[in-house]
Amino acid sequence: MFESLEPMPPDAILGLMEAFRADPRDHKIDLGVGVYKDDRGETPVLRAVKQAEERLLARESTKSYVGPAGAEGTNARLQSLLFGDALSTRIDERMGVFQTPGGCGALRVAAEFVLRCKPDAVIHVPDPTWANHVPLLGDAGVEIREYPYFDRETSGLRFDAMAEHLGGLGPGDLVLLHGCCHNPCGADLDSGQWQSVLELAQQRGFTPFVDLAYQGFGDGLEEDAFGIRLLAAGLPELIVASSCSKNFGLYRERTGAIALLSGDGRTASTARSQLLNVVRGIYSMPPSHGGAIVEEILGDESLRRDWKQELDAMRDRINGLRSLLVERFDARGDGGRFGFIERQRGMFSFLGIDPGQVKALREEHAIYMIDSSRINVAGASRENVDRLCDAVMSVL
Ligand code: LMR
Repeated sequence: MFESLEPMPPDAILGLMEAFRADPRDHKIDLGVGVYKDDRGETPVLRAVKQAEERLLARESTKSYVGPAGAEGTNARLQSLLFGDALSTRIDERMGVFQTPGGCGALRVAAEFVLRCKPDAVIHVPDPTWANHVPLLGDAGVEIREYPYFDRETSGLRFDAMAEHLGGLGPGDLVLLHGCCHNPCGADLDSGQWQSVLELAQQRGFTPFVDLAYQGFGDGLEEDAFGIRLLAAGLPELIVASSCSKNFGLYRERTGAIALLSGDGRTASTARSQLLNVVRGIYSMPPSHGGAIVEEILGDESLRRDWKQELDAMRDRINGLRSLLVERFDARGDGGRFGFIERQRGMFSFLGIDPGQVKALREEHAIYMIDSSRINVAGASRENVDRLCDAVMSVL
């Protein structure tokens, strides 16, 4: 039976990660996979995570199952982190927050749940969106359509075209939005545009479905939750897929959550039971370790303070690198071509160069980025920035 299969091409992002690891050149620069890196190119375990792990190890008395929802304490902490304490209390009866295996787990569970609600539902995703959104959501069997989002000419948003698309939607449509730090383009909705999305959803009855994978990496923990809080306060229904991979640096621990807001308490209770039944049928229950770390950190004032400091430092480093790249490109006479990098947020931006130029950077300069020219800004550093800018200018 297996011999009828055709081999799959390597994943665009993970394949590049492998190619980078295999490259023997010492001066190689990794702007590929979206993991945070410090000035030495390392992705360290956060101090607060290490401390929380030590405490958990000392205290842990069982490895018994946690159940499909994950740990109640973790879910409560994550709900407050996402929605803030006041709003969280206000919508608690209509809300369900459940631990998932990373943000990916939340996305897949959401897609399966949506199918149960409405087998002919359509999820509208931005053009472009994270490459893995399409298999994660589409392989569940939900129809995926694109809406206009990023303007490759201006490196800004095509918000009028996006609003026009959303204006044609209705109940049974879901709109996937990136809560902050858009992956791959780095261009986010501003507060006025979030307000317009809210009003369109209120008028048209579509359901926003927000992927919040970078809370704290854009402008701050509270600032980056602006969109989901506005929507949760103003709409009957909302789905949020959140990830602790980046803001807690828990990548391989696969730690995330799905938040489901329903129109009233009774519907919420049914929705929660359906969602947990979906979970049981896919992976039964989420891994516990990452969630326990998050709960420990968020529940302890001093660990939380330390975590926030490290998170702030990661964000400041990325935003500082954005300014540095623009300054160094400017010094090389780019005529403002790369000025947009400073206006964007999160790990990613498109350089706006073609696949041939991306290939030349990889082969001739050992600089790795996705073919679309998406760069992980955190892969740059004070030490490599001049070489990086020289190389980019040389292939233009
Ligand atoms: C990325 O976009 O590079 C990250 O989210 C990692 C991944 O799994 O693709």
